[in-house]
Amino acid sequence: MILKVARLGFPSLRTGAQPVPIDQIKTRDFQRLIDDMVETMHEYHGVGLAAPQVHLPIQLAVLEVRNHPRYPDLPPIPLTVLINPEVTVIDRATIDDWEGCLSIPDLRGMVPRFKELRVKAIGRDGAPLDFVARDFHARVIQHETDHLKGEVYLDRMPDLRRLGFLDEWQRFLLPKQE
Ligand code: NI
Repeated sequence: MILKVARLGFPSLRTGAQPVPIDQIKTRDFQRLIDDMVETMHEYHGVGLAAPQVHLPIQLAVLEVRNHPRYPDLPPIPLTVLINPEVTVIDRATIDDWEGCLSIPDLRGMVPRFKELRVKAIGRDGAPLDFVARDFHARVIQHETDHLKGEVYLDRMPDLRRLGFLDEWQRFLLPKQE
C-alpha cells in the first residue's frame, strides 16, 4: 500500500523518533509497514524514506538506489531497512552535493555531508547490521537518520541561497556546480 507522505510542518518531521521495541519487529503489522514504506519510496522515486515522513515517530528508515529514473548515474545502494540506527562518523571531511526530500517537494539544496560513517542498526529480520558507508551512500544515511532526529536537509544548509525550485534549479543553480 502506498502511504501518504507528510510534508514539512507535520509534527512527526520535527520530533525525535522513538526506538522500535525489538519484539515488534517480526510482527505482521510491522513487516507490512516496512513493505508499505518500500513501496511508497519506489512510487515517489525516493532514494530513502523515514517513518516520520509517513506520520510515524519511530526509528525506522528504508533506502535503495537501483535504476533511478531521474538520476541514472547514481551509484546503486542495495535495499536496506534500518531500525534503531546508530551512526558514528569515521571521516569528518565533508562533501557538498544537491539534495531533495519527498517531504519538501520540488526543492533542491546544496548540503555538506560527512564522507564516511559506521552504521549499526537492526534489520527487518531482527538481526544486527554493522557496516561502513561512504560518499553518496553515507549522504543518504545521514539524510534519513536526520529525519529520525526531527531534522531535515534545510537545517544542514550553510547557505540558503543555494536552495531552489526544481525547474529553476536545473536552469540556474545546477550548471554552476564545479
Ligand atoms: Ni527526506
